[in-house]
Formats: sequence, structure tokens, C-alpha cells
Amino acid sequence: MPHSTPIPSRTQVAIIGAGPAGLLLGQLLHCAGIDTLIVERQSAEHVLGRIRAGVIEQTTADALDRAGVGARMHREGLPHDGVELCVDGQRHRIDLVGLTGGKRVVVYGQTEVTRDLMDARAAAKLPTVYEAQEVSIHGFESGKPFVRFRSNGELHDVACDFIAGCDGFHGVCRPSIPASALHTFERVYPFGWLGVLVDAPPVSDELIYVRSPRGFALCSMRSRTRSRYYLQCPLNNKVEQWSDVAFWDELRRRLDPQAAADLVTGPSIEKSIAPLRSFVSEPMRFGKLFLAGDAAHIVPPTGAKGLNLAASDVLLLADAMIEHYDEHSDAGLDHYSAHALARVWKAERFSWWLTSLMHNFPENAGFGERMQEAELAYLMGSRAAQQVLAENYVGLPMDARR
Ligand code: APR
Ligand code: PHB
Repeated sequence: MPHSTPIPSRTQVAIIGAGPAGLLLGQLLHCAGIDTLIVERQSAEHVLGRIRAGVIEQTTADALDRAGVGARMHREGLPHDGVELCVDGQRHRIDLVGLTGGKRVVVYGQTEVTRDLMDARAAAKLPTVYEAQEVSIHGFESGKPFVRFRSNGELHDVACDFIAGCDGFHGVCRPSIPASALHTFERVYPFGWLGVLVDAPPVSDELIYVRSPRGFALCSMRSRTRSRYYLQCPLNNKVEQWSDVAFWDELRRRLDPQAAADLVTGPSIEKSIAPLRSFVSEPMRFGKLFLAGDAAHIVPPTGAKGLNLAASDVLLLADAMIEHYDEHSDAGLDHYSAHALARVWKAERFSWWLTSLMHNFPENAGFGERMQEAELAYLMGSRAAQQVLAENYVGLPMDARR
């Protein structure tokens, strides 16, 4: 398991957070010969212990390959050419490859992506501090940035050229930007997702997104022997209220008869409830501080965009920093926030749209419900509408930045 390395007094880019955003940025900059230090408040075990999604867009797969950490994804990941929507007991397949001129997604757990990145960083002996305490960032608005933290009881100040805030929604970087300089946008959904991980073969070869009168459900997987299922649940539910039996019974009630019959259940190895929110903080740069991933934006998991957006932010930021050091041009850095936000808002729109379409909203009864039904009926009958869904699901091209 990776552990902390000797701490330099100076680096080029100080990265706060060893989630997928921070680790991928560190790897892409390492491949370009740029020094980085990663400062993470949790242990590596803790970071790897988080259960997160696992649908990888082509753009993200390409970024992992560019960072030299794509081999295991290609070996163990499951390429998916399609995805299914089950609406009131009827299954409809969305042909991703056919509707996008050959694009698909790969099902490969975010935990595995994080593990591959951590192992690559440890193998290259790149400076990384886990279990860092009292992490704070300074001087990014005055051009002399440095990060301060305590490690093994000792206080460290590490000077740098830039700070990359990859410390997630609850990190220290975004709140370090003066509130007057930030504009935030948020939508909190009136329900959560109850998720279960089980060592049982998936109910279907492809993901099934379910809209039913009893609420949303999702049938996903991590491998051919490990499955991941979700149920829309009231926000005030507690995990303890849901026994495994109750979970499987409720899932069967929401599935089409074939899937309900095919469902293989088992003891849950992880069970948790996650709230759903859409959140964006603008701008994504403040002086020498650059935010990426969940530090700047959150999407509801319905569109499987969280990890992919973090990766595309990091791709843009890495290219901009490489341009700064190699070509002494700051054009990329100066446009980073605008370029990243243009892509972020499109992914926010898609995630909000799919969430609004496939979930039950208490306040939707009547006209709202009819709108949902009409939108679904149109989607099921229109190749053009299915192409829009497919195009967004596989990931919009990186250069669609304006
Ligand atoms: N100091 C140092 N590290 C911190 C601090 C802090 N003050 N606060 C948070 N961190 C660390 C967290 O412990 C975590 O490991 O920053 C990391 C942020 O990682 P993520 O939350 O995974 O965010 P990101 O790398 O942007 O990845 C986004 O993760 O949550 C999913 O759906 C999301 O898939 C998306 C992806
Ligand atoms: C998952 O596998 O956990 C998953 C897949 C697709 C989603 C959300 C979560 O949209």
C-alpha cells in the first residue's frame, strides 16, 4: 500500500487531494517532466475504501492511457456498446455504438482507477503525503503560493508555482477563495440513492436504468461476478431500515418481469445511501489556484459523469500547465476556467435531465408526470432523441468546449 515519501521544500505544482482528479493530474504532469507534491488528509487505504461509480468515457480511458495507467482497465474493464432503459416494465436498448458512430463506455470501478494511479505514483516514488493534518493553502492570490500542513507531528511549508485544488466537495481549497469572488449554483434532489454491492453475477450484460411507479432503480456491475444496484429512496431513510431482503424485494418490484426472474441476490458487502445534488462553483481559477473535479462541481450519479468530469478538468489543466512550462505561454491557464465550465455545464445539464426523467418527484404528480411520460414516449420512438442521449452518455468530444 502506498505511503508518504520525503517532503520537498519546493515543487512546481502542489496538488491537494489524492482522489482520481489529483492522482491523474499528478501522473499527467509527471509524464511531462513536471514536479508535483500531493497532499492528502486521509490514508491511502481510506481513499481506496470509498465505493464510487465505474462508467468510463472514451475521453477518460484515453487520459488514463496517456498517463500510462490504462493497462489493467483494458484487461479487466467491460466494454459496453449499449445501455438499457426500463420504463414501467418495458426494456428499451440504447445502441451507444450505433448512435454515436462507434463510441462506447467501459465499466471499470473508480476504486480500481484510483488504485492504478496510486500504484503508478508509488512506483515512480513521487512525493506524496497521506494523513496530512491542518492542510491550508496560501499566497495563491499574491503570486507566491505555498501549502502548509502537519505530517507526523511536524509542520511543513512547501512553496510552489501553482496549487491544484483536487480536494473534493468538502475540501479546503474552494472555501479558501474569497466568497465575493465565487458564484455557486445548486439543485438538491428530494431523494437519495440506496446502493448495494454484492458478489453475484449482474442481472444483465448491460446497465439497466429503471423508471417505475415505485421509483428509480439502477442495475450496474463491477465485474462478471460483482454487481452494484441502486434504489431511489426517501432522503430521511436510514441504511438500518433496509435489510438485504427488503432491498431485493423492492428491486424486484421495480424491474421488468424478465429481470426480476433473472436477478441473482446475495449478502450485501456494502450498503449506503447517497444524497443527489447538482452543484457548480464559478470560476474554477483564482490567481495561482486551480480547482478540478468535485472541488468545483458535483453531478447527480444518474449520468455517470462525476469521474469523467474530474478527468476532463484534469486533462485541460495538465495541458495548460505543460504549455506554461514548455512554451512559456499562459493562454491555456487563462482560459482553463471558461473551457472547463463549458464542458461542466453540458454534463450538469445531461445529469439533471436524466435524473428528472427517470426518478419520481413527489411534487410532480399531474402535469409534471405527464411531461415525464411524454418525454419518455418520445425518446423511445425517436432515433434523434436516442442519439442525443447516447452522445452525452458516451461523453462529448473534448474540443466541444464552446
Ligand atoms: N486536505 C487534503 N486532502 C483533502 C482535504 C484537505 N483539506 N479535503 C479533502 N481531501 C481529499 C479527500 O480525502 C479525497 O481523497 O481530497 C480527495 C478528493 O477526492 P474525491 O472526493 O474523490 O474528488 P475528485 O478527485 O474530484 O473525484 C471526483 O469522485 O466523488 C467522486 O463522483 C465523484 O467520481 C467523482 C470523483
Ligand atoms: C455504478 O456502477 O456505480 C454506477 C453506474 C452508472 C451510474 C451511476 C453509478 O449512472
